[in-house]
Amino acid sequence: MARVTIVLPEGLEEQRELGQDWAAWLDRLPRLFSDIVAEWELTRDGDDLWHGFCSLVAPVHTAQGEAAVLKVSFDGDSESEHEALALQHWHGDGVVRLLRADPHRRALLLERLHRRDLTEMWDLEACEIVAGLYPRLHRPALPQLTAVTSYVERWLDDLAGQPRDIPIPRRMVEQTLSLGRDLVADPASVGVIIHGDLHYENVLAADREPWIVIDPKPMSGDAHYEPAPMLWNRWEEMADDLRAGVRRRFHTLVDAAGLHEARARDWVVVRMILNANWSVQDAQAAGRSLHEGERDWITRCIAIGKAVQD
Ligand SMILES: Nc1ncnc2c1ncn2[C@@H]1O[C@H](COP(=O)(O)OP(=O)(O)O)[C@@H](O)[C@H]1O
Ligand SMILES: [Mg+2]
Repeated sequence: MARVTIVLPEGLEEQRELGQDWAAWLDRLPRLFSDIVAEWELTRDGDDLWHGFCSLVAPVHTAQGEAAVLKVSFDGDSESEHEALALQHWHGDGVVRLLRADPHRRALLLERLHRRDLTEMWDLEACEIVAGLYPRLHRPALPQLTAVTSYVERWLDDLAGQPRDIPIPRRMVEQTLSLGRDLVADPASVGVIIHGDLHYENVLAADREPWIVIDPKPMSGDAHYEPAPMLWNRWEEMADDLRAGVRRRFHTLVDAAGLHEARARDWVVVRMILNANWSVQDAQAAGRSLHEGERDWITRCIAIGKAVQD
């Protein structure tokens, strides 16, 4: 059979700018993709190629004629390292089914779901649906998973080392360091499998259940870590009253999932300020001032961190 050849989607090609390791992966990707298609006896189903921030996804058929997707992810960081392990463990319970995996090449063959995702629902409905999925995901953690606290500890150290003039209010930096260090020291901050990036676009419509979770960045963590991406995504919809919009989503998630409000709030504050600091660090590393987009994002992160507090 002829080998498949692909042209990478433009949106993925753009990730070249992220550095040498990304460029090298993108150079290898067409070959890697066609090798796996051949080895796993897959056939492409149409010309579509989808992608997220760090992966290439293509609809395929298996040798048995089953509709599936092949997902190949960036291999230069640890985020997708244990995606296969967690998917296998969840066994399709509220989560996409794993049909085959090659963790070394970061390649997954997944059950095909619909293209529709939770962005088509009203945001508060989506929050209720996602909150209903949390208990199915948050099972006892597997020993291979990295503790979320070990990442957070490092990110807090980065924040602590920042000069005083970064565009994040000093009071919020201090608050984040204090709350974050308490959370890192708390044994309750680890112990269950967390998804890590559970937002509207990572929940797809399906036939066997209405909504199914995809794209985990699994870590050993705490359910209260999970809500933040539901607040910072689709923020445009809350633009006329961000504070009220954020609070409605936050309380919907907390109530529907039965989370402790104070603990969930602390994690939101910590995650939002760490997010903001990553943008500051990106600009510092490149030796440039902040882009307008980065300044807007930092402003938004701070606003969300404030909105969940009284
Ligand atoms: N099982 C699937 N069925 C159908 N489409 C999928 C499936 N998995 C991923 N996709 C599509 O590919 C996109 C990127 O996949 P995702 O796993 O979210 O990767 P990323 O980490 O790059 O965001 C998704 O937003 C979705 O549109
Ligand atoms: Mg995704």
